[in-house]
This record gives sequence, C-alpha cells and structure tokens, in this order.
Amino acid sequence: MHLTSSEELALTGEHGYAMQKAMEILVALGDIYDADQLIPIRSTQIAGVSYKNIGDPGLEWISDLNGTVKVQSILNPAGMDRVRWRELGISEEFAAKQEAVIQAYERLGISTWCTCTPYDITSDLASFGDHLAWSESSAVAYANSVIGARTNREGGPSALAAAIVGKTPNYGYHLDENRIPTIAIRVEGRLSGADYGALGYIAGAIAKSGIPIFSLESTPSNDDRKALGAAMAASGAVALHYVEGMPPAPPVSPTSPTSQPDASNISEHITIKHREIEEVYLKNQCEPDLITIGCPHCSPRELAKLRDLLRDKTVTTEMWVFTSGAIRDRHPDLVAGIESSGAKVVCDTCMVVTPVCERYRCMMVASGKALAYVPQMCGADAVLGSLEDCVDAAVGK
Ligand code: F3S
Repeated sequence: MHLTSSEELALTGEHGYAMQKAMEILVALGDIYDADQLIPIRSTQIAGVSYKNIGDPGLEWISDLNGTVKVQSILNPAGMDRVRWRELGISEEFAAKQEAVIQAYERLGISTWCTCTPYDITSDLASFGDHLAWSESSAVAYANSVIGARTNREGGPSALAAAIVGKTPNYGYHLDENRIPTIAIRVEGRLSGADYGALGYIAGAIAKSGIPIFSLESTPSNDDRKALGAAMAASGAVALHYVEGMPPAPPVSPTSPTSQPDASNISEHITIKHREIEEVYLKNQCEPDLITIGCPHCSPRELAKLRDLLRDKTVTTEMWVFTSGAIRDRHPDLVAGIESSGAKVVCDTCMVVTPVCERYRCMMVASGKALAYVPQMCGADAVLGSLEDCVDAAVGK
C-alpha cells in the first residue's frame, strides 16, 4: 500500500505512540486486503465498548493510547445503562470497569453516546458517498444500504485506529466493483414491522457475505431497512443490500448505454415465500420471562409506536426498551409514556452486550438480529414477535 511521507513518519512513531499503533493496524489491514492507499473518512463508529466483551485486556489497551481522534467518532453500546445500572442489577465492580472503558475513549475525544444507531442522533456522521470506518454490523449495513455511504465491517481496533489517523485502507465496500449485487431475492407477499427482521433472518443465512438486491411488494421505511440489514448481518455477514426502486441504487454498469445498475455479478435468483417468513415467528417457542425491544436501538418513531401500543396498559412481564441516551434525553415525553406502563427504557446498552440478560431463560424479541444473537451470546432462548405480540406478552394477554 502506498503511504505518503507524512504517513510513513507516523508509522515510525514520529507523531506519537497512539498514531504509530494506529498506523500499524491500518497498514497491516491494507496489506492483507491489497489496498492501494489510505483514504480520508468522515466518521467512525467504534465497537469494543462493553466490558462484558473486552474485559481487562481491552480496557488496558485503550487506556494506554493517548492523543486525539481526527474525525467525529461515536461508541457502540456498552454493557450497562450509565444512569440506571444499579436498578438493572449491574455489580459495582462491573460498573466501575465499564465507566473506565468509556472514560478512556472519552480521553481520546470520542463521543460517549453509546449506540448502534448513531444516524438517529445526528446526520453529521454520514451522507451519501462518504467513506466511513464503522464497526457495529447493523450500523454498517444501514450506512452502506440506506445512507449510501461506504464502510467495511470494521473491528473495534481498526475503527479506533481509523479514528486516530482519520483514514482507512481503500478496499472492500469503499470500491464500486465490490458494491455490485450478487444475489436477487424476490419476496412474495406484503411485509410490515418485524416481518423485515424475519426476512433478514432468512435472507442473511442464504446470502452469507453476498450483496442481495430485493424485489418487494411493500415499501420498507428506513426503520424497516434497519431491521432487515441488522438481521442479515447476524444470520449471515451481509454488509450491503439494495431494494429495487429505492435509493441508493447499485453502481451503474460500465457497459450500459442507459445507465442501468450493474447486474453482472448476480449469480443466483431466489424467491422467499410469505409462509417462510411466518415460520420464523414459530421458531423456539418458549414462555418469555423478559421482553426486549430495540435491536437495533429504537428510533423516536419506534418509541412513539410502542408508547401508543402501551397506552393505558400495565406490564406484568418485564419489558426493556433499548435506545440511545441521546434519544432518551430529547424525547422525555415518549420515555414517560412508555414507562407509565411499567416497561423500562434502557439506554447506552442492549440485550446482547449487557451481562444482565444472562439471568433470563426466554426472551421475546421483535428483531431478527436479536433472534439470531440472543441464544449465542446470552445463553437464553429467543422467540420472535411483532411489536404488538411483544406488548400482548408483556401485559399478559
Ligand atoms: Fe444494537 Fe445490540 Fe442489536 S448493538 S444491533 S441492539 S445486538
């Protein structure tokens, strides 16, 4: 990979220890993936925040770094709600370690909103065509597929390195030739709400690391596409998808006189029937002792829908609703409306990265991603429900 003279100096330690370590990571990645150069990025979203996942080795590594990030950077969910951790049963010891992790990131100049939906907090982080270094897989899918920005699925260390350098190696999804659809998926029947998560749960397992282009009978909202992309990133490793007729479109074919999207890499055409989507709701039937909403973190629109569904109802089975602290602070009316039912709005964390969820046996989720991850990462069974099903289960209907 070609380096500028300034980048060469950074690699030899002329610009300090943190810059040197960051450059070492980026150069190693660039060499592995045959990148031609480092390219400037607009923002980073950094995973490796929950103390549950990174432990003491991760905390030590981050604490040893000094310097300041060069681009706007934001954190992935942590292992606890930074305000309500006691109420959720987090130990003093875990809380102290988790705060130490967040403060170490803060010393580097990173925003301490901990969320997988940074695009719901600010539009300053990513626009169409921007190069990014984001790490949480659903955020990556949203950035690539809905915003039309360009990011690889970064690991926590490589996103942090990109933040410190302000650049990332130019390979993978940064390049047009790697953004061409590889599998065409036609979906029979109209979808709504959690159906998109169920579709993603099926489609991700089929597409694996490919790039699906969907032909749908219904028009998904951005929240629906968030759910679809998140589930495909969990049941497979999909980082980019397209929906026919919706922006952003695939790159234009270089041989098309009419600027048609490039379909030259599509090697498979499949159809998913509505019945297959309905069957995802019937997997792992179990009696939920916890209902969780907000994987990925709830948008204000999703909170408003849940507030309306919970109006004048009382929750009798625990229900946790995950969103970012920024959304909680900006929408106290929505939070109060939801919590008047007895449900809890939990921020900065989620059902997968907090250790607390490990004490439950069966979780009802409204997310295809959580359906895939909860059994693997929390040791609990998971059952999918629509938002309405989740409310019914929570109020004991
Ligand atoms: Fe976000 Fe946690 Fe789901 S990070 S996408 S809420 S697993």
